[in-house]
Amino acid sequence: MKRLGVNIDHIATLRNARGEIHPDPCFAASEVIKMGADSVTIHLREDRRHINDLDAKKICKLKKILVNLEISMNDKIVKNALKIKPNYICIVPENRKEVTTEGGLNLDKNQKKLRNIIQIFKQAKIRTSLFVNPSIRDIKISNDLNADCVEIHTGRLSNLVKSKKDYNAELRRIKKSSVLAKKLNIEVHAGHGLDYQTTKILSKINEIQEFNIGHFIIGESIFFGLSKVIRSFKKIIKK
Ligand code: PXP
Repeated sequence: MKRLGVNIDHIATLRNARGEIHPDPCFAASEVIKMGADSVTIHLREDRRHINDLDAKKICKLKKILVNLEISMNDKIVKNALKIKPNYICIVPENRKEVTTEGGLNLDKNQKKLRNIIQIFKQAKIRTSLFVNPSIRDIKISNDLNADCVEIHTGRLSNLVKSKKDYNAELRRIKKSSVLAKKLNIEVHAGHGLDYQTTKILSKINEIQEFNIGHFIIGESIFFGLSKVIRSFKKIIKK
């Protein structure tokens, strides 16, 4: 059964715009689960531009809510994450000037560091995922690094679909990467830039077990309500 993780970073962005306490990301975490999400994703960025340490701590303490914490390879953040104890970790690249995560990790350059981080989280019994580009080489390296899961970056596919360009080569790369990962016993997730159309396209790839979606869900819920949007995504990924 495919799962839906809802990224609630934008709830914190909205709260921070006023510097007050509403809307509360902790309340959002409980609500999205009640509405049918299988897990909640939060990104504790080095610049803390949306989710902050207290949010992460409070959200990870909520009972019966599976939390996927996205973090960079920064030593301090890794130490923080170990204290916060989420259910899952997803390691992502981070660059201070980016508007959002722009691509998968550079696995070649960071093998030693990633191997060490994965081992740290494995010892803490926290499922660890690497955010990767759809490439056979990156899946092989993820396997060598002993990652439990890979989250395949779907931003390029999403941009091609949205601009009505030919996306088939990119879709094939995602499919091939997913098949190899599954064969190697690595769980496959997908995320970034997904909307109804791109999720529908990717839901045909049986190997993908989890979708992590944020921006579109929060944006669309302004018009149609969070509950309805989450239900629509659940319907799409079930097919
Ligand atoms: N997955 C990862 C690893 C991400 O970094 C992000 C963006 O924070 C998402 C999924 C969600 O992307 P979007 O907000 O575009 O749906």
